[in-house]
Order: sequence, then C-alpha cells, then structure tokens
Amino acid sequence: MADLRVRIGALELKNPVISASGTFGYGLEFADMMDIKKMGAFCTKGLSLKPRAGNQMPRICETPCGMINSIGLENVGIDAFEAEKLPKIRQTGATVIANFFGDTEADYVEAARRLAAMEGVHALEMNVSCPNVDKGGIEFGGDPAFLEKLTGAVKKVCDKKPLIVKLSPNVADIRPFALAVENGGGDAISAINTLKGMGIDVKTRRPKIKRVFGGLSGPAIKPVALKMVYECVKTVKIPVIGIGGIASLDDALEFLIAGASAVQVGTMNFVEPAICQRLAEELNAYCDRENIARVTDLIGTLQTD
Ligand SMILES: Cc1cc2nc3c(=O)[nH]c(=O)nc-3n(C[C@H](O)[C@H](O)[C@H](O)COP(=O)(O)O)c2cc1C
Repeated sequence: MADLRVRIGALELKNPVISASGTFGYGLEFADMMDIKKMGAFCTKGLSLKPRAGNQMPRICETPCGMINSIGLENVGIDAFEAEKLPKIRQTGATVIANFFGDTEADYVEAARRLAAMEGVHALEMNVSCPNVDKGGIEFGGDPAFLEKLTGAVKKVCDKKPLIVKLSPNVADIRPFALAVENGGGDAISAINTLKGMGIDVKTRRPKIKRVFGGLSGPAIKPVALKMVYECVKTVKIPVIGIGGIASLDDALEFLIAGASAVQVGTMNFVEPAICQRLAEELNAYCDRENIARVTDLIGTLQTD
C-alpha cells in the first residue's frame, strides 16, 4: 500500500485525485453511487452570494472527444449551500473544496469570508474566469496585476484554510497569472478551466449553444492543459493542481510527472461517476508495482534531456 497523501497548503489529502467543480454537483448527487470520502476531495459547483439560474438552453453539446458547456454558473447560492447541502455533505466524511466566484471584488471577498467560516469546508477554490462587472466585463483572471490584488484581498479572509486560485487557459501566456497568484499569497493554483469553443448544427445552421460560445472540456483539451500546468509548475513554488481531459490513470500520471501535486477530473465524471475512486485505486496499484513508496516521489520527475 503506497502512501498517496499530498499536501495543498495546510490541507492534507488522502490521495491526489479530486473531482472538478461543476461536474460533481454538491457531492450528494454522487454519494449513493460511490464512497465520496475515498476521493482526495471534491470541488463543489461554483458558489456565489446569491443563487443564479444560469444561461438559457441549449447550454451543453458534445464534441468528438469532449463537450462544450455554457451553464452560466447556475448554483443554489451560499445561504442554501450552508443550510441545506453542507450538513448532509459533512455526514459523508468527504473532503470538501468550495469553489466560488463573484461579480465584483467585494463579492469575492464576502463569499470567501462566508465559506472559510463553515465547518466542513476544508479549502477554497476561487474561479476567476468570469466577467468582471467592475472592470467592464473583462475576465477577473485576465489581468495579472488585478489577479494579484484580488488574491491578496481574498486570502486575508480565508482564516487558515488554503486558497486555491483556478486559472483560465484563455490567455496568451499563463505564467504571469501563476506568478500573480503566488505573489498575492495564494496557497495553490489549479489549472485549467475550460477553453472557449463553439459548434454549429449544420441542418438548422444555428449554434449548438444558445450563447454561441461555450467552454470546451474533456480529452480534447488534455495536451493544452498539460503544457499549461507544466508552465505553471516551472514558474511558481506553490502547489499546482492539474485539470483538463483526464480520463485514465496514464492521463493522471502525466500531470503528476509534469509536477502537479494533485489532479482534478471533470467531464469524465459524467461518463463514469466513480472515476476518481477508480483512479486513486489504480494509482495505488501502479505505485506498488513500480516500487514507489510515496506518490510525492513521483511528482515532478519529468526527464527533458
Ligand atoms: C458542465 C460543467 C460545469 C462547470 N462548472 C464550473 C464551475 O462552476 N466552476 C469552475 O471553476 N469550473 C467549472 N467547470 C470547469 C471544470 O471544473 C474543469 O476545469 C474543466 O471541465 C476541465 O476539466 P475536464 O477536461 O476534466 O472536464 C465546469 C465544467 C463543466 C463541463
């Protein structure tokens, strides 16, 4: 039995496999199908101060190796999460990373302050890939100087709970954004969120997504994600969590070898709800087979010469 424990700031995970935000609901939807405390952790659907209805349908379409979504950050809101979801989640014994976002800097700080104070929320993941109302609709995560300031302001209210900042891949160079998180006092980076994409129904000649563009995820994005995660790992000293198209143990191993301290699985949860648990078991068997006593001995072992 290999030692699969990894650290994300002050938080120790029993293994490095986490389910990604927006693909695992509030955990409870999956609790009947698997033992959710066996995952390293799960990320909640992105939470905001007020509930949100999300975008109009159609808001999901398939691609040959993934999907495009424009859910529009639909969620129950932080009050309902605390009152209705969290007490039941606590009973499962799962490790919970609360993913959150806001429309303004003040919203972000207030959402983080509320979530950090909740028993049963073990870490926070800040999604900065949403339009910034204060800044006239450009993404919060699209300006490194602003991202550093936002990270600093949010970190102050996180108490001792780790603050993970989730980066958008929709930038020319991800490295200044990774540095901004580190300089702002963030405890970890998760990368990547979805890439922008679109699809057209050739019969109706209409976009497959009501809002025309959506976020592309799944196996199609893995090579892009791996490269961006590797760039983040090379740029900062804080842990990086790799996300993007993970569908098998080998996919997860690629991210770990590239230097990711943990991985998140998103779209593939829709195909195989218990995939995170399976990957953690397969990782354990792999480490035993390869005589790797601790998974941390594997992380960042990429040979490039
Ligand atoms: C339907 C759907 C909803 C998502 N909702 C969120 C969200 O609320 N917050 C967030 O940070 N990421 C969200 N994501 C992005 C995923 O967490 C993940 O970063 C992305 O899908 C890439 O991983 P994958 O290729 O394994 O799916 C969502 C993705 C999908 C497919």
